[in-house]
Amino acid sequence: MTLVGVGPGDPELLTVAAVRAIRAAATVAYPVAREGGEGMAAAIAAPWMAPEQRRLPLVFPMVDDADARRRAWQEAADRLAAEVAAGRPVVLLCEGDVSLFATASYVLLALRARHPGCPVRLIPGIPAVAAAAAAGGWPLALQREGLLILPTPEEPEALEALLERAAAEGWVLALLKLGRRWPWVRPLLERRGLLAEALFARRVGWPDQQVMAAAAVEPEAVPYFSLLLVRQGCAAVLP
Ligand SMILES: C[S@@+](CC[C@H](N)C(=O)[O-])C[C@H]1O[C@@H](n2cnc3c(N)ncnc32)[C@H](O)[C@@H]1O
Repeated sequence: MTLVGVGPGDPELLTVAAVRAIRAAATVAYPVAREGGEGMAAAIAAPWMAPEQRRLPLVFPMVDDADARRRAWQEAADRLAAEVAAGRPVVLLCEGDVSLFATASYVLLALRARHPGCPVRLIPGIPAVAAAAAAGGWPLALQREGLLILPTPEEPEALEALLERAAAEGWVLALLKLGRRWPWVRPLLERRGLLAEALFARRVGWPDQQVMAAAAVEPEAVPYFSLLLVRQGCAAVLP
């Protein structure tokens, strides 16, 4: 079976390998948040799917309950392994890249634990962070800089500490899961003089994509599919 990264939203941002794997599949599995829900990865890959392919939505509830999440990963692994055992080539679609904060990674671990004989191939996808940088014409990392990709901290104090550390180490920050935290993140960045240079990206690759200076974004909650790129210094040698 193959775990396929489908990129952040634009169907043109799938790799050739991803399109080939999807086309070769008898069964196309994809994550949904609830029974009957529409899958984001499935919507991205829709132009590359054929009507005769079997659709296999797999429910991964977005809840804090660890047992519920574990059960969903295990159940998904069992259902995918059953497709393989039945001789049906199967792909599991994954938004962005398959290895970056990805449901596919948990399914991979569950497959290895529960079905160690099941062969699994991974096809990387373009991560939202890279797509956002490209859309904004924003170099992600230069020269001796580091790049730290992580969920936005839950508390202002934790973000302050992170920014201090990033400034000292020369790290560019890519803050995911910005969503409801933006109303307090924005004034914090403003106080530190970081707002004008930071890049905000919402639903990159979708028709309603917004990529702009963070200073232009109102201090209201933003969608879950939003991220922020923050640089605090500049490279030693610039053109
Ligand atoms: C669970 S992570 C998935 C990351 C994904 N696997 C990747 O490689 O980009 C979800 C977070 O990634 C970011 N994200 C994913 N897709 C995005 C998009 N199209 N536009 C903006 N941010 C996105 C958001 O910060 C979101 O909260």
